[in-house]
Amino acid sequence: MKREPFPYQTITVASVTPSIGAEISGVDLSRPLSDAQVAEIQQAWMDHQVIFFRDQKLTIEQHKAFGRYFGELHVHPLVTMAGHPEIVEIKADENSSYVQGENWHSDVTCAERPPMGSILCMHQIPENGGGDTLFSSMYLAYETLSEPIKKLIDGMTAIHDGEHAYRVRQNLKADSYPRAEHPIVRTHPVTGRRALFVNRSYTVRIPQLSERESRAMLDMLFEHSELDVMKCRFKWRPNSIAFWDNRCTMHLAIPDYFPHTRYAQRVTLSGDKPF
Ligand code: SIN
Repeated sequence: MKREPFPYQTITVASVTPSIGAEISGVDLSRPLSDAQVAEIQQAWMDHQVIFFRDQKLTIEQHKAFGRYFGELHVHPLVTMAGHPEIVEIKADENSSYVQGENWHSDVTCAERPPMGSILCMHQIPENGGGDTLFSSMYLAYETLSEPIKKLIDGMTAIHDGEHAYRVRQNLKADSYPRAEHPIVRTHPVTGRRALFVNRSYTVRIPQLSERESRAMLDMLFEHSELDVMKCRFKWRPNSIAFWDNRCTMHLAIPDYFPHTRYAQRVTLSGDKPF
């Protein structure tokens, strides 16, 4: 069924692709927002899953204040900025052996209550290009599975393992790592739509299946959710912002700009237990 576009009054919303992503203009995020602006940004976020803003020069306090219009700020279990626990710094340069976000993921799915959203402000783009971010619609990933596969995975869960993501992949040392079991298919608490909820960075096992079956099923679901038809691509400029919904998207930061520097700061919004 074709949906009529929402009649926005305070912002302008331009789709990036028909299924995911929209660029928002006509709003200055460094200033206090009206209730109508917040409601329309929320509406665009729900409709498009990830929304983008250009030319928004925010201080750390303005960045946090923007996040607080939409929820409580989340503190990352391992990676925080000195003096600003609610900020995650995303930095890669000539000394980096690993780029944060270089594998498909949604943020911190190893938590019992994974964050619902993330707001990334770009401060420095690589000098010779590259460093775009890809986003994938996990609604579309679920909806485009065949009916027998949907039926099979509907009641199943998967283990999301922080040790796999942080120690094995990123070499981040900690005394312990978060680990959680979530449904493979979750229902979005606001839109009611169903979304696939597994990702290559954190998801390690489907406990209802044998090891071999679990690996084959997860590989198939990862590959399916990473197909080009699920995606949009964002080309950053300094002071661009991406605001994504971790409950129905995944993302990947393309690590194609070595040895140049890319630097961004992220505010993350606390979430609920997936159901
Ligand atoms: C992230 O995973 O939060 C980082 C995304 C990016 O650097 O584009």
